[in-house]
Amino acid sequence: MLSHLLHLRGIHSIVLEARSRTYCEERVRAGVLEHTSVQMLCESGVGERLEREGLRHEGIELGLNGTRRRIPFMELTGKCVTVYGQQEVVKDLIARRLADGGDIRFECGRVSLENVATEKPRIHVDRDGQRDEILCDYIAGCDGFHGISRGALPEGALTIFERAYPFAWLGILAAAAPSREELVYMHHPRGFALYSMRSPQVTRLYLQCAPDEDIAQWSDDRIWSELKTRLSCSDGWRPTEGRILQKGVTGMRSFVAEPLQFGRLFLAGDAAHIVPPTGAKGMNLALADVYYLAEALESVYHGEDCRLLESYSGTCLRRIWKAQRFSWWMTSLLHRFEDEPMFDRKRQIAELEYVMTSRAAAASLAENYVGLPLDGVESW
Ligand code: PHB
Repeated sequence: MLSHLLHLRGIHSIVLEARSRTYCEERVRAGVLEHTSVQMLCESGVGERLEREGLRHEGIELGLNGTRRRIPFMELTGKCVTVYGQQEVVKDLIARRLADGGDIRFECGRVSLENVATEKPRIHVDRDGQRDEILCDYIAGCDGFHGISRGALPEGALTIFERAYPFAWLGILAAAAPSREELVYMHHPRGFALYSMRSPQVTRLYLQCAPDEDIAQWSDDRIWSELKTRLSCSDGWRPTEGRILQKGVTGMRSFVAEPLQFGRLFLAGDAAHIVPPTGAKGMNLALADVYYLAEALESVYHGEDCRLLESYSGTCLRRIWKAQRFSWWMTSLLHRFEDEPMFDRKRQIAELEYVMTSRAAAASLAENYVGLPLDGVESW
């Protein structure tokens, strides 16, 4: 996305990707686009398939004790979200960059960054059996939580803020037509469950599980039985079963590395911050970061003004921390915390009942879920 936004602003970039194009295009990840992310993709000319195939969701449902309550986003905020897999966004962006003559180098090995504190940082990279050197004006570390960029900063340059959660999510992708129109976030004494989808033919479902859950212990039958136990409602609704296409365990953590800049290296997305998936914010935060970065680089190259670039980290962090707060809150509201004092369990239920019945509380959830506005972008 950054490379595409830079191209639209007349700025050349090279994308170095460790994996193959197929891997990037097929890896199942997040699936919910905020209102602003949809605007960003559409206005930058890569939203054609998203508009056609994305599923517009005007609300979500929260569940407690076998009952569900809808949070109507459109009514509460005038905005909605779109369900469209991250790998579909990636496919659209790769296709567009290549069509525009973009330079994406897949299957890069041994990437190392040098002189990031100087005006001419360098990257060394193995590709097609040779070691290349790339001289850059700027480097954007958009290489995820396990990437090399964050580690390229000297000791002490970053302050880390983090929180681990005593659970994970067991996620499946199933060949089953969704039997509800919207996502269902379900509180259950056995643990949280989430009903989501990817298309009119594919459902995506999650179960709260142990952080070190052994997926080998989960047969397809056991998964469906647990999903039905947690998701079934007193009105008779339960998820429709289908062939399980994929399953895996996703860890949960909150993490922020500050600041997002060191010299000419700028961190963006999961390289700098991770949220637990309950608020559906990960991909959206990454898109917001690179939007700010593209705007800032444009004002350096075309306006000779460094102020936006200098404030990049602070601008992103204000939004990141609000998303951290929301993701932590959604996670705390809906999961089962083992060994928690009874007081906290009762307080949690009271809070969920409050959100399910108070318009003011529901509006706060809705406002955060559809996405807070981007600073300085009034029209979205
Ligand atoms: C998903 O469909 O993968 C999904 C949806 C909502 C979430 C997390 C994941 O909060």
